[in-house]
Amino acid sequence: MSAPVLTAVAWPYANGPRHIGHVSGFGVPSDVFSRYMRMSGNRVLMVSGTDEHGTPISVQADQEGLTTRELADKYNRVIAEDLQGLGLSYDLFTRTTTGNHYKVVQELFLGLWRNGYVVPKTQMGAISPSTGRTLPDRYIEGTCPICGYDGARGDQCDNCGNQLDPADLKNPRSRINGEVPKFIETEHLFLDLPAFSESLGTYLSGRTDWRPNVLKFSQNLLGDLRPRAITRDLDWGIPVPLDGWREQPMKRFYVWFDAVIGYLSASVEWARRSGNDDAWKEFWTDPAAQGYYFMGKDNIVFHSLIWPSLLMGQNGTGDKGGQPGSFGTLNLPTEVVSSEFLTMSGSKFSTSRGTVIYVRDFLRDFGPDALRYFISVAGPENQDTDFTWDEFVRRTNFELANEWGNLVNRSVSMAHKNVGSVPRPTAPTAADEELKALSRAAFETVGANLRRSRFKLASSEAMRVVTAANRYLSEQEPWKVKDDPERRDTILHTALQVVQDANTLLTPFLPHSAQKVHEALGGTGVWAAQPEMVEVTDLDETDRKYPILTGDYAGEQATWKSTPIEVGRPLQKPVPLFQKLDPELGETGPEWAPIVK
Ligand code: MF3
Ligand code: ZN
Repeated sequence: MSAPVLTAVAWPYANGPRHIGHVSGFGVPSDVFSRYMRMSGNRVLMVSGTDEHGTPISVQADQEGLTTRELADKYNRVIAEDLQGLGLSYDLFTRTTTGNHYKVVQELFLGLWRNGYVVPKTQMGAISPSTGRTLPDRYIEGTCPICGYDGARGDQCDNCGNQLDPADLKNPRSRINGEVPKFIETEHLFLDLPAFSESLGTYLSGRTDWRPNVLKFSQNLLGDLRPRAITRDLDWGIPVPLDGWREQPMKRFYVWFDAVIGYLSASVEWARRSGNDDAWKEFWTDPAAQGYYFMGKDNIVFHSLIWPSLLMGQNGTGDKGGQPGSFGTLNLPTEVVSSEFLTMSGSKFSTSRGTVIYVRDFLRDFGPDALRYFISVAGPENQDTDFTWDEFVRRTNFELANEWGNLVNRSVSMAHKNVGSVPRPTAPTAADEELKALSRAAFETVGANLRRSRFKLASSEAMRVVTAANRYLSEQEPWKVKDDPERRDTILHTALQVVQDANTLLTPFLPHSAQKVHEALGGTGVWAAQPEMVEVTDLDETDRKYPILTGDYAGEQATWKSTPIEVGRPLQKPVPLFQKLDPELGETGPEWAPIVK
């Protein structure tokens, strides 16, 4: 059943620290999935990096009085620290300003170009009258000509999902400074999306196992595919490798064009750093390899339509045919897994509106696993979901501390105090067998849900084992069977076996505490590996250095199965796993993000 699995995680813009809305979309889900896949014996390659070109970066750089490169350097590091703190197990977290990324993007483009899927066209482009700079589509706002929604952006309407042209918007205005954009004539390269309508249709019609929101949204857009500009009038982006374009300082690839290619370039960079330049192919050109893409819902179209089109164009398998480019025949996404939005008092998390909870602050005060658990069990998996401090406090206190932390604590403490090591069982009763059978069976149930990215169901099913074990202890009352040490030891052995199973089941969600439970149960070495930050030199521009996230996950012990707990293994006196929160926090919020009434 094991297959190479590519986990492709959306690339955060390097324009600020991450907030918990960001990581609930791409971060935690992709890591829970990857950890499970590794634990069940698959070779996993999990890649991403910071998205550093285009206007999001230029606008923020202007605001902070930095150059675009300085700004990207600053937030690349900040974001890598946020993601490392959460324990996101990237094989490579890199950036889009590497020499390797530039080469891969240009090479992939040439494949598309040679197969005739890119056409130059002159169009009307928007510029800011006051600065003369291009006003990118996303920075123009106005009324949607199709549904009348007033907050439509120049590239798409988030209300009806249609792709738009900025010139179509009624009442257009700049989101940067409110001025009315000026439209000028300018030449750009366009991806010929209509030349993929049949091949995309066939591709999507085979995706019946995708989340319905992603599939329906994507299929709806098929009816209205129009050529899409993949260049912009900008100086901050990757140059176009064609005569007449290469030299132009103000013609660059559109940030989204280069960013999605990052999945491939990061895989190539990972291979080059691993010492085997071809190692990426296992994940991209082996037809048995699977590719899972994780993101928030505003990214769907780029992953379910644009990226498959770029891949098919390079492969020569769009409606016009062609030859495979220099990357060979690349796999299309197996699944595009999108989350909805984590909201705060009903509105989308946003840095500009002040409703923002930064990952860094959250980790400092509450640690990574409480956030990972909350996002998994109560996150915006299928619908926009409000984050409330009250629910966070309840989940942490009742589920993590009272249920799980307490189960570990009382089972290990009792065995530690009475025996000092894992006790030897004698004659197990029906109740003992029943509990052990329940936790063994959970591997299949929880695993099946994780394979389908159903994190809420998966985490609740894992917690059912914890609840059952607590009930078992209350019924068996090992603390009362002092005159029958054999029975007491059998109960404690059963409880410890189920603690170990539950810990395995919870490892994808709670990898930091899983390591502690492993040690409390007398285990040594690495149970769940964590990402490391390493300073590296750019492989192509040797005067540039940057931090990457990577890790040695192959060496971890966590395996997706029930393993018999070893009798006689010395136990450690457990330390509390989860800090209980003051219920007051649920009403006030922390001082760095107070609840405003
Ligand atoms: N930077 C984009 C965002 O934050 C996501 C880019 S994902 C990739 O919305 F596909 F382009 F890599
Ligand atoms: Zn609309």
